[in-house]
Amino acid sequence: MLLKAEDVFRPGAFPEYTYISRKSAVSDLSYEFRLMQAIKVSGFLTSLVGPSKMGKTILCEKVIGFEKIVEISGADFDEDTDFWQLAAVKAGLSYEGQFSSEKTIPDTNDKYSKKETYSLTKDKIIEHYKNENLVLVIDDFHYAPKVKRMQVAQQLKDAIRRGFKAIVVSLPHRADEAIRQNADLSGRLSLINMESWEVNDLKEIAKVGFEKLNMTIDEDVAMQIAVESLSSPQLMQYICLNICTILEMSDNNNHKIEPNILETAYRYTTANFEYGDVVSLMRKGPNTRGKVRNKFRAKDGREYDLYELIVKSIAESPPIMKLTFENVKERIFRLLIDDCKKPTQQSMKESLAKLQELLDGREDIFKVLDWKEGVLYILDPLFLFYLRWGGKRNV
Ligand SMILES: Nc1ncnc2c1ncn2[C@@H]1O[C@H](COP(=O)(O)OP(=O)(O)OP(=O)(O)O)[C@@H](O)[C@H]1O
Ligand SMILES: [Mg+2]
Repeated sequence: MLLKAEDVFRPGAFPEYTYISRKSAVSDLSYEFRLMQAIKVSGFLTSLVGPSKMGKTILCEKVIGFEKIVEISGADFDEDTDFWQLAAVKAGLSYEGQFSSEKTIPDTNDKYSKKETYSLTKDKIIEHYKNENLVLVIDDFHYAPKVKRMQVAQQLKDAIRRGFKAIVVSLPHRADEAIRQNADLSGRLSLINMESWEVNDLKEIAKVGFEKLNMTIDEDVAMQIAVESLSSPQLMQYICLNICTILEMSDNNNHKIEPNILETAYRYTTANFEYGDVVSLMRKGPNTRGKVRNKFRAKDGREYDLYELIVKSIAESPPIMKLTFENVKERIFRLLIDDCKKPTQQSMKESLAKLQELLDGREDIFKVLDWKEGVLYILDPLFLFYLRWGGKRNV
């Protein structure tokens, strides 16, 4: 069967043909093995934590399989949601219902039908999960309201003791109080921390995928895409898919991926990302209340203020998610012509702090960086990718 590119590279779904197994840094065991091992320990709850888009959901689906996995999301909960009702419905059980039964009146032998209602008990639901070998995955647990998280933890504590199997998935440092820091659960937790992806693992996605499509890609070209993917398997899948689309649209029958297609593929990939407002807010910086900002002369012949320079410096090569202050400073100086006035260290630090403040008070999509103890962390790989290749890059 001839596979299509969209079946092979799947940035938004289970990558059946390009699934890559990784080893966890701490134990030298694969994540699949660790999760399987954790599920097998009866009486324990599994807590899987890792940064956004690193493959937490995909890992659960791979290990448990679509037949046996019951997925619910923290977002399915509001403060009134009944945990067991949700667990029943998602497992295909009808939690509440009515049935008619025929009764006979003893004296007259007349028959009549009576409607009765029932609702499943927690015990019945647990039994069903056990009999069918189902595993409940509570994904994105941090989305559930805080009080609900504590209640769910309480329910899970009791259920796992009776052989109910569950995995709670969340982002690092979010929702910890209900699970990892919950004294009630201590000694009953299997902890799995998922690390960011290394370029060597990311590279495999391209190698395996293009081979499935009867195409070849040189090691160093796959490596370039992996570096640009910034530890995100999703980005890697996305870029590879776009390379295929570009080749298809241009009726290119070349079966080898040439490096000259990469830049176009990167640019096309940013088309679906919505960081335009984030970038322009960062470039503008905080309100100056009428004061004019200092401008600095850059090697490209234009003048930029400090906020524009910071944004430009983040976008410079090589793409890095963690920049020390020295890195930022050195990148800014590199952008400027040699014998011009340079911004001071203090002004740079102040601007970084103000930038963080500016972004902090806004919606989640604006939470793209963290300036902490002299280090600038880029929190969202897709944002950095956008900054490097997005349409407004040179504005
Ligand atoms: N093991 C893998 N091999 C290849 N590609 C993968 C793998 N894991 C994840 N991906 C790619 O990354 C995408 C995102 O993965 P996934 O949805 O599992 O991340 P997540 O950690 O659950 O993210 P979120 O925190 O947003 O829930 C997948 O749709 C897939 O394209
Ligand atoms: Mg997920």
